[in-house]
Amino acid sequence: MGIKILEIDQITKEFEKDLKNTATSAEVDSLNIKYLGKQGKINHLFKILPVKTDPQIGKAINDFKSIVQDKLSTKLSEVLDSAEQDTFDVTVPGFEKPLGSLHLVSQTIKEIETIFQKLGFVRRRYPEVETDWYYAEGLNIPKDHPARDDQETFYVGDNTVLTAHTSNGQLREMELKKSPPIKMINIGKTYRRQIDATHTPMFHQFEGLVIDKGINITHLLGVTEYFAKSYFGQDRRTRLRPHHFQFTEPSFEIDITCGVCQGTGMMHQIPCKVCKSGWLELGGAGMVHPNVLRNGGLNPDECSGFAFGWGVERILMMKSGLPDLRLIYSDDIRFLKQF
Ligand code: PHE
Repeated sequence: MGIKILEIDQITKEFEKDLKNTATSAEVDSLNIKYLGKQGKINHLFKILPVKTDPQIGKAINDFKSIVQDKLSTKLSEVLDSAEQDTFDVTVPGFEKPLGSLHLVSQTIKEIETIFQKLGFVRRRYPEVETDWYYAEGLNIPKDHPARDDQETFYVGDNTVLTAHTSNGQLREMELKKSPPIKMINIGKTYRRQIDATHTPMFHQFEGLVIDKGINITHLLGVTEYFAKSYFGQDRRTRLRPHHFQFTEPSFEIDITCGVCQGTGMMHQIPCKVCKSGWLELGGAGMVHPNVLRNGGLNPDECSGFAFGWGVERILMMKSGLPDLRLIYSDDIRFLKQF
């Protein structure tokens, strides 16, 4: 608390009384002059009180001055508000509030979810900060295996990562369900140390996992075709290319026909600029490795399964023809408004 000074006390009381009797902006203006003006009461206090010999007095006047300033500006907005209310014309049409919309990544996730739900897949979301076991070791990637270098992983501790893929969801789903049938679609955020026109450090993947008695590659093919035709269009076709993943055997890369050249690889007699000879890469897939089934608590002699992990932003770019993935996360309203 500051010190008490008789003169300041008196002016404070006078000011409070004046303030109470103020109802218009013109009256607020005159209080401004009366207290804060050059010849005003506050400047007068500075003249008559011994501010030079006692710095506490100067401080007390300045404190009072800022209270006066605050109260006058509050009062001014109050009287202006009530003046506005007095003249409010209820017949004037209101302003239309601009409506937002779902971000296009959310829209794509919804679309993916709907397509797989029709096939009986259950939507899941598993951890994005994950232990080494679910993320790698349990997926048949031992600690010293060179496959660990494939993915540009962010480590957040010796044993903890930001997931570079959604495949950790495979083991978690097996643990949760304990026995077949399993049919899940795990959609979540993934992270990699990469940034360019087609990669952002954070992106999304959707991971499918189907396990039951007698599941084979034709089931994988059927689901892939169904997804490609539902999401991209009935005229699209898919193919498998042999590949390698530690957690699937055999492993594949799945391609889909290019929508620009209709899979011909040629546009106006020159090679198509969008694809490689008619095909675009969708992502990895394969038959779940017996070691992974075992690590998930299942018996590979009794059941088998397939899995795939594809990029949400990737299919969005493939369908929309977006030239640069970074646009999606730019927050540029002119861009986002188009979707
Ligand atoms: N996890 C792999 C990737 O991120 C994709 C994949 C998922 C491959 C499931 C096979 C089975 O590239």
